[in-house]
Amino acid sequence: MIIAVDGPAASGKGTIARALARHYQLPHLDTGLLYRAVAATVLREELNPEKEADAVAATGFDDLLLADEWLRSDEVGKVASVVSAHPLVRAALLQRQKRFAQQPGGAILDGRDIGTVIAPDADAKLFVKATPTIRAQRRHAELRRNGIMASLDRVLADIRARDDRDSRRAEAPLVAAPDAALLDTSFLSIEAAVEKAIQMVETQLAKKAAGAN
Ligand code: CDP
Repeated sequence: MIIAVDGPAASGKGTIARALARHYQLPHLDTGLLYRAVAATVLREELNPEKEADAVAATGFDDLLLADEWLRSDEVGKVASVVSAHPLVRAALLQRQKRFAQQPGGAILDGRDIGTVIAPDADAKLFVKATPTIRAQRRHAELRRNGIMASLDRVLADIRARDDRDSRRAEAPLVAAPDAALLDTSFLSIEAAVEKAIQMVETQLAKKAAGAN
């Protein structure tokens, strides 16, 4: 069974995907980390993220990098959204994600293009969203917990800029797959959002099973 979870920054997609992975006992891949690893490599080697060839050269990163906490910083996130717009960067990371999705026993992947590009035949697809203001408040609180002081306005501007870049790019833009269930987490607690996500997956699986009979 393949479950695809997509959505914008701080929508709650990562938390939901991890909870679904626990619930269904499936391996989980946070695909954003792959783009973040490319971004971190670009930064470390002082390459130019706007240049496709530079960004492609950074796709050969060492997997040990995926465990580096630095990848989760806003600095790296911003550059990730720049390098991820290059078609050749996406192509270089494609097979790895498809292999993960198609492993025997199934998998859960979260990102921006899982339901549309990586696993269009997924058994269940969720598109997780929340208003930009609420997502900015969540990201702001998270930064504070990590001792980083940034103004809420700044965080909101960053979120809007990233949404804009991710949605407008020509290659695999951030868009809900037509058959994805929309989960708005704006006014839901984590527990309520996870519960709703499980219900939505169950509904999709039941529909699929009914269609197969
Ligand atoms: O959750 P958050 O947006 O903070 O970060 P992320 O999911 O780790 O993604 C970082 C960046 O990688 C995003 O802004 C996207 O530009 C890019 N990305 C992508 O293009 N495709 C994916 N499947 C996952 C991430």
